[in-house]
Amino acid sequence: ADQWVAALEKAAPALKDAAAQVDQVLATTHVLDEYRFEITKELARITGLGEDFIFPLVENKYPKDAASGDFSIAVPRMKLPGSPAEIAKDLESKFTASPKISSVKASGVFLKIWIHNHLLRDRLIPRVLNQGEKYGQNSSGFGKVSLVEFSSPNIAKPFHVGHLRSTIIGNFIENTLQANGWTTVTINYLGDWGKQFGLLAVGYLKHGNEEALEKDPIRHLFEVYVKINAEATENPAIHDEARAYFARMEEGGTEALGMWKKFVDLSIVKYREIYGRVNVSFDLYSGESHFRAQDKCVRDVVQKLKDLDLLKLDQGAQVINMEEYKLGVAIIEKRDGGMMYLGRDVAAAVERQKEYKFDNMIYVVGSQQDHHFKQLFKILELMGVPWAEKCQHVNFGMIKSKDGNMSTRKGTVVFLEDILDNVQESMLEVMKRNEAKFAQIQNPTFVADTIGITGIMIQDMGSRRNKDYEFNWDRMLAFEGDTGPYLQYAHTRLCSIERKAGFDIPATVDMAPLTEPVAAALLDCIAMYPDVVREVGVQLEPCSIVSYAFRLSHAVSNCLEELYVMNQPPEIASARLAMYKAARITLGNALRALGIVPLDRM
Ligand code: ARG
Repeated sequence: ADQWVAALEKAAPALKDAAAQVDQVLATTHVLDEYRFEITKELARITGLGEDFIFPLVENKYPKDAASGDFSIAVPRMKLPGSPAEIAKDLESKFTASPKISSVKASGVFLKIWIHNHLLRDRLIPRVLNQGEKYGQNSSGFGKVSLVEFSSPNIAKPFHVGHLRSTIIGNFIENTLQANGWTTVTINYLGDWGKQFGLLAVGYLKHGNEEALEKDPIRHLFEVYVKINAEATENPAIHDEARAYFARMEEGGTEALGMWKKFVDLSIVKYREIYGRVNVSFDLYSGESHFRAQDKCVRDVVQKLKDLDLLKLDQGAQVINMEEYKLGVAIIEKRDGGMMYLGRDVAAAVERQKEYKFDNMIYVVGSQQDHHFKQLFKILELMGVPWAEKCQHVNFGMIKSKDGNMSTRKGTVVFLEDILDNVQESMLEVMKRNEAKFAQIQNPTFVADTIGITGIMIQDMGSRRNKDYEFNWDRMLAFEGDTGPYLQYAHTRLCSIERKAGFDIPATVDMAPLTEPVAAALLDCIAMYPDVVREVGVQLEPCSIVSYAFRLSHAVSNCLEELYVMNQPPEIASARLAMYKAARITLGNALRALGIVPLDRM
């Protein structure tokens, strides 16, 4: 017996560890999944079907009413032999209720399932409070690396609507993949190479101004570029000069490269600052200039394409004929030996796989480049690289505007900074209307910036990516209707309830007082957030989170009208405050998943 005691004592810490691990797993399990597992097990027992097969068929109903059930299964999807309606009846009669499941009922070809909702309520809130910013996340992407390339503006050119959308959607993809357990590496593939940099250099030597460059490189380089472009149209000799300059750059001439490098470095500093305002950052600024015609990685790719007999000489240029795939003729290298945009992309993909061994790579670029990415992916496939199918083009429609630029009330803007300044100014104007409230805000410009940007982002991500939309300043900055400011407002209202309650939520709260239908609707909405994260992690459609955030905010607003925290008996006040806190956490997480900073006050 002594031996046993000794052995047990030795094992005790490990057992305690194991128990702690089980606790941890339970504490992070998605509450709705607990019910799905229970339903799945019972249906697997009755039918003999595999649990993995049944689990995804168990659908959560939302919104719910007494007749809809809490979960349902479309019986035809179980693919059992026989009449689905009869099978549904059979399942109904064989299903045994359990502590979690209250009843099931066949309804046509559906099986409807009701759960003990008070259990959901009692388990959900403590879990959300406990998980905080992690609530809704899952670990399905654990150990996998996703490369997300987005924004990618061109130096000395305008930041156009396509870059804006890429920035917003790319940032969402990064956050959402992380919420699904992925490791992400984000890349800004700057347009920082090509003949136009020869022209820019020639322009800078004529019109450049050191001071203006240091102060605002993005704007100054753009101005210089516009000027020299106009001059070159008049005087073609400038183009020859530019070509010669770029040739020196391609050859690696130190002087020629020195000036270009300064342009790029200064621009990146400024980009970082502006992206910071929209809460966007990149792990890597790796532009097209990393893939010059003479670089070894580029030569290797060209050689490989030749070895595979894919590259053909066509009027002096190196091309791949892709007619067979209805993808035209792809030019890789020009007659003068210059690398094409497409050629650089092939080399970049190969390098990125070498460096990061990615499990997927996502290019967030507008639909205008659909053809380009089809060609790129086809070339990778023809090269026989096993990871070709891991590359994905996440495209999006246009923001409709006169000239591809965004116009504000004051005129056309060409840079992200202008758009941000514009919304900041408009928001400050609105905020100042309520003087007393304005005085309480500690950092008004940050708040104005954040609300304004939320407006832009919510408008952008409000519909399916592929839809075009019109930039509507008045609508996106309004506080009423389904707008960004409305979501921020809903979040700040919840924060203010917690501030004003005047007490902390006790460690254990009895949720039983939450009996009202509006509370049940809010809890149902909070409970389904992990489902939404899981779904967008696959579809990469931000509008699913946006519409979820509105549903949640509406459910909150319905509760706020009826269920007060102030001047209530302590048990009621605690339960309601816990519910509001859970709602605040969930709404904050949804906004964060979209790449938005939730505000505490506004
Ligand atoms: N700089 C390009 C443009 O403004 C976008 C780059 C897209 N990414 C890529 N790997 N080709 O159109």
